Amino acid sequence: MSRESGRKKIIWAARQMPVLTLLAERFKTNPPLVGVRVAACLHVTAETANLARVLKSGGADLSLCASNPLSTQDDIAQSLRSDYKIKVYAKRGVNSKEYYKNIAECLASKPNLTVDDGADLVTQVHSKNKRLLKNIWGGTEETTTGVVRLRALAKSGKLKYPIVAVNDALSKHLFDNQYGTGQSTIDGILRATNILLAGKVAVVAGYGWCGRGVALRLKGMGCRVIISEVNATKALEAIMDGYQVMPLIKAASLGELFITCTGDIDVITSDHLKLMPDGAILANAGHFDVEINIKDLDKLSSQKTLVRHELTEYKLKNGKALYLVAEGRLVNLSAAEGHPAAVMDLSFANQALSLEYLVKHQGLLKPAVYPVPAEIDKEIAQLKLKALGVSIDTLTPKQAKYLSSWQTGT
Ligand code: NAI
Repeated sequence: MSRESGRKKIIWAARQMPVLTLLAERFKTNPPLVGVRVAACLHVTAETANLARVLKSGGADLSLCASNPLSTQDDIAQSLRSDYKIKVYAKRGVNSKEYYKNIAECLASKPNLTVDDGADLVTQVHSKNKRLLKNIWGGTEETTTGVVRLRALAKSGKLKYPIVAVNDALSKHLFDNQYGTGQSTIDGILRATNILLAGKVAVVAGYGWCGRGVALRLKGMGCRVIISEVNATKALEAIMDGYQVMPLIKAASLGELFITCTGDIDVITSDHLKLMPDGAILANAGHFDVEINIKDLDKLSSQKTLVRHELTEYKLKNGKALYLVAEGRLVNLSAAEGHPAAVMDLSFANQALSLEYLVKHQGLLKPAVYPVPAEIDKEIAQLKLKALGVSIDTLTPKQAKYLSSWQTGT
């Protein structure tokens, strides 16, 4: 894969990203990030490259590292370095030591703003690089797991700078987590296995935004879908959406395909693995590779073979074989290319505008986790609708008054 293929993919993705393209023009005319050092830890994909282009056109001095050892697309990284002169510290397939070395190199730029997908930058700053805190005005966080970690840091009283939780914007998680993960998770599993989904019994652990997206697409492809949950309301939603719901230990012997989407640890352990039928396929769509306990899988196995690209066969001592996609790392970015650009258009528009917001509010925000301002969230939805050529109704003055009053009743 070459710089040229990376460049072409970036341009192709840009075609599906009209909101970001518009922001690039706006940032070029009126640059909000001039001289601002931004360190970003994101999946190095064509979509991220387009965010990088926007930030650069806004005047940012950008350094980029990867937020997962398996999600970097090397041709995109090459093109970013050569065609866009962006500092990129990322390579697909690095080990844990190299992964953290790349983060350290990215942080060596002494950022004013951090952009995270999973909170690894913030964690490194707050543990091993505290001297950098004096330069930092704020940061953004892209994903659910990162927001969970940052809220825990804030709750412990140790968070040292304000963070905008991009994940929590409606124009982000309703679309990215749901439709993005829904489609790209299936894409990753199919690229790795080429199985026929129709008729398969698929078990989805977690019926949050990602889980419901994945379940819906599996159902659409003809799977019989079982949901496992720990939250009663989500479980009830899954039932009313037409799925079977049961504890994972019960689903373990029924499933042929298992997908974890919880953001939790040890969702699938040896207790479940032992019960799974011969040939069952396991994949994870959650942020970290902790949802399927791979050590348990190793312990139960007598042999491990890579049988296809990103598909490992585990021969269990009980005679069965289980198949793990992409080493249990987030399957859509490791075995496929991540979310389609059209959905990352919304997520990264939130990122760009949240960074602009942090610059405008430099020194005014206390260290805490903040939502994306509602006006920004709404503006992004409006811009996307406009790009899609869809117009909607507006409230008449009478309706606006009615909807903000209490006097009129029966
Ligand atoms: P969410 O909070 O909306 O949903 C998670 C669901 O899992 C909740 O309903 C929770 O009750 C359930 N859950 C937790 N522990 C469980 C367990 N042990 N068994 C069964 N259910 C359990 O979170 P969201 O947005 O769906 O994100 C899930 C994970 O996916 C996170 O790690 C997030 O960072 C990641 N993510 C991955 C993406 C990708 O591209 N692969 C994109 C967006 C998010």
